[in-house]
Amino acid sequence: MPFTPDSQLDLMFSAELISDEVRSQLHPDLHIRPLASTDYNRGHLSVLSVLTIVSDPGEAAWVAQFHAMRALPKTYYTIVIVDKTSDVIVAVGTVFIERKFLRGLGSVGHIEDIAVDKRQQGKKLGLRIIQSLTVISERSGCYKTILNCSNDNIPFYEKCGYQKKENEMAKYA
Ligand code: ACO
Repeated sequence: MPFTPDSQLDLMFSAELISDEVRSQLHPDLHIRPLASTDYNRGHLSVLSVLTIVSDPGEAAWVAQFHAMRALPKTYYTIVIVDKTSDVIVAVGTVFIERKFLRGLGSVGHIEDIAVDKRQQGKKLGLRIIQSLTVISERSGCYKTILNCSNDNIPFYEKCGYQKKENEMAKYA
């Protein structure tokens, strides 16, 4: 598929929120941008399958979820890195902004669902995704940005400037 420029896409949020510094560090064959309403057809779920088992809801339900997330203003920021030679997504990540009553009515950025296509791992794409999401979180006024990860991924997040703090608790329904 030929590369689709941002001007022809329906994006989740303004591309201006993506750091120019991070953009300039990407290989010229790669493009970083917000998730688009047509990214179901660019391998979005396939990239996420390196992270966990993905059940495909079908395109219509995927698009409905995209619009439901975008309808919440200043809350969900999903970004993708696209291989311009194929117009296929090779890396994804999300930051979700939580508003609080504490910390002077402050906000916290929660980084979620980071995944890089197996063939593209080890080329700093994960780092670029985390850097971009952290900038979005900080520009949104968040006083901290946090995430959960496996022990195996701790060195990766340390390379991204994050430090281990406290523990995760979970209760699955
Ligand atoms: N152990 C040690 N170091 C690592 C690891 C690791 N598991 N992964 C990356 N690094 C290091 C790299 O060597 C590099 O170091 P350098 O700067 O000294 O060269 C640095 O971290 C940056 O690495 P990237 O090349 O940016 O890593 P990559 O693009 O492969 O992305 C990621 C890392 C996201 C973990 C990727 O391997 C992946 O998709 N894994 C499977 C899915 C996954 O585990 N996602 C994270 C879940 S946690 C969450 O979503 C909040």
